[in-house]
Amino acid sequence: MALLPLLHSLPTCKNPSPLRRPACAHISCSMEVERGVEFETAGSFFRRESAVGRDLGVLSAALHRRALGGEMRIFDAMCGCGVRSLRYLRQAGASFVWANDANEDSRGVIVSNLSRAGGAAPPGRERRKWVVSHSDANRVMAENYLQRVLFDMVDVDSFGSDSSFLRSAILSVKLGGLLYVTSTDGYTSGGHRPQQSLASYGAYIRHMPYSNEVGLRMLIGGALREATALGFHLLPLFSYYSYHGPVFRVMLRVLRGKLHDPCDYGFISYCNRCGHSQGFSWEQLGQMCCPCCSGEVSRSLVVSGPVWTGALHDANYVGEMLELAGEFGWTDLEKLLKRMLEESDPRLPFGYIKVDEIARRAKINSPPLGALMSSLQKEGYVASRSHISLNALKTDCPMATCIEIARKLQWR
Ligand SMILES: C[S@@+](CC[C@H](N)C(=O)[O-])C[C@H]1O[C@@H](n2cnc3c(N)ncnc32)[C@H](O)[C@@H]1O
Repeated sequence: MALLPLLHSLPTCKNPSPLRRPACAHISCSMEVERGVEFETAGSFFRRESAVGRDLGVLSAALHRRALGGEMRIFDAMCGCGVRSLRYLRQAGASFVWANDANEDSRGVIVSNLSRAGGAAPPGRERRKWVVSHSDANRVMAENYLQRVLFDMVDVDSFGSDSSFLRSAILSVKLGGLLYVTSTDGYTSGGHRPQQSLASYGAYIRHMPYSNEVGLRMLIGGALREATALGFHLLPLFSYYSYHGPVFRVMLRVLRGKLHDPCDYGFISYCNRCGHSQGFSWEQLGQMCCPCCSGEVSRSLVVSGPVWTGALHDANYVGEMLELAGEFGWTDLEKLLKRMLEESDPRLPFGYIKVDEIARRAKINSPPLGALMSSLQKEGYVASRSHISLNALKTDCPMATCIEIARKLQWR
């Protein structure tokens, strides 16, 4: 294994002033502060915009640490400058973090950052609080797995739609542990490269108006497919989309056994003619048509899948994250977590509807989102906002009825 000496002399920083620099800086020496934690980014990959994804990871790790009640070991497969690993040590109470990044040039900055976790470790690998390596993430995970070294949490902050890490990452997590996976390929989730989504996630993705939610579902579905082949099941704890990048991040709990409800993995469709969305199981393939076509096969139906069609988040879990964020004083996360809580209602189907689409189809001006949601709820439908799209709602109300309700609202 390409494990370099673990602790060595730290690089000297010529300009240690805590300046705020442009994101993704490749600057000789720059200091950043994130949630009160100071670190350097010099010469390594760093995006300030990814802070929320790191916050959510830290909250999950901290909850896991409390549930374990004892030691917690984390593998940060693509650590960049090491800020994530540092935060897992300092803020989530990890007892050990393995920080890996293929880029050997960032070794100095990672080691320097992790040294800020304090607690100089005595010799002896098991007693060390952290280890830094520079190898392909798959290789490190596979080698650890072969030596029966598993982790309580594995964080894979990968680029694009590279899904080649999924198998080794799943195998590296202890049962009941956490797997935090990533996709940053908005082009594929947007349906512009269906052959790529098929190769990466086993799902043929076509363009749909709620493609950013499809991106999360494609990632969960792809991970689930890999897990099932290995005899595991994955439970989505939260799913997070950020338009910076874009970035799709999903926290999954690794469990033994098969998918509980096969209805949560199937095909989704959107009708370009009437805007109606429907889910289809494998058994219904070949019988797919939109209600607007009176049972006739319709060219206006766009179908993607198979993808995860179940809940994007576990409501109880997000509730615990919200509580912990309050304890940490991270009140700015409240809005996002509350929106995720709303989205967790199991009665809500996949997808979201943009208010502008309802207005365009109803040939009216866009109604206020809040008023439309209240009207839908008064009519007995479930409606929530979406953390993914600002002026959109998630509802079990069919598009045709949404249009009627929006028109009525216009006449009041
Ligand atoms: C998105 S950045 C990670 C950012 C970091 N996790 C953070 O929160 O700031 C991806 C990193 O993966 C590293 N990388 C790319 N391919 C890799 C591979 N196959 N194995 C390990 N690291 C890899 C890159 O050098 C880069 O630093």
